[in-house]
Amino acid sequence: MFSNNQHNNMAFSKDHSRNSDNIISMRGVGIRYDQNPEILSDVNLDIQKGSFHFLTGASGSGKTSLLSLMYTANPPVRGHLSMFGYNIDSLNRDQIALFKRKIGVIFQDYRLLDNLSVFDNVALPLVIAGKSPNYIRKYVPDLLEWIDLKNYIHAKPSILSGGQKQRVAIARALITKPELVIADEPTGNVDDDMAVKLLYLFVELNRMGSAVIIATHSKSLIEKFNYPVLGIHKRHLFLQER
Ligand SMILES: Nc1ncnc2c1ncn2[C@@H]1O[C@H](COP(=O)(O)OP(=O)(O)OP(=O)(O)O)[C@@H](O)[C@H]1O
Ligand SMILES: [Mg+2]
Repeated sequence: MFSNNQHNNMAFSKDHSRNSDNIISMRGVGIRYDQNPEILSDVNLDIQKGSFHFLTGASGSGKTSLLSLMYTANPPVRGHLSMFGYNIDSLNRDQIALFKRKIGVIFQDYRLLDNLSVFDNVALPLVIAGKSPNYIRKYVPDLLEWIDLKNYIHAKPSILSGGQKQRVAIARALITKPELVIADEPTGNVDDDMAVKLLYLFVELNRMGSAVIIATHSKSLIEKFNYPVLGIHKRHLFLQER
């Protein structure tokens, strides 16, 4: 997973009590903001390598809050969170930064860098990962073509529509083929045909080994793609029978 050098220097505290196939593991997790009551209680969740889950629940039920615990790697106010087999409480900032590189996030509000072009937004994770300019010049346009954005390759995000921005955010999150993809309403602003096409990108990535979690309100996507569904209901997370 890491080079020996990094591993020795960073003195990770491996959480041996957990299944090593779990990328994320939560036990008895509670989520709340400030001193308000918990919006989610007693969350028990294992996200395994190579798995695929939808996450659904009413607006305001806590989907984004649950996902943000995974991608910001904040310790929960209550309970236990492990990522990639390591107890989150035992990690320092540098160690967390290394884990974050293994996660591709599509934020509900996109969070594109407005001063960079579409190309540079999507290329950035590859630059950070140290990929060669040749590799970047080949793969970024390929992916932009697939999501029908090749004509906007040099555009700045500010001139794009909501759905176009959303597709750039998806491309940026998937371009490094991360071990874990967390997508918060990634198809909320595109038409049904484009939503299906984008879902196939996630499916393809999952077939190559990435674990995928997609928060969505779309019943038709959930029906069309027969993956397990995590639902939030009355402050609790449960796996829905299908
Ligand atoms: N930063 C914050 N500070 C205080 N309360 C917050 C914050 N973020 C979210 N909340 C509250 O937590 C609850 C869950 O919000 P969250 O954004 O996780 O819901 P969601 O399921 O993602 O909703 P949606 O489907 O609309 O995106 C809401 O009641 C919201 O008001
Ligand atoms: Mg949300």
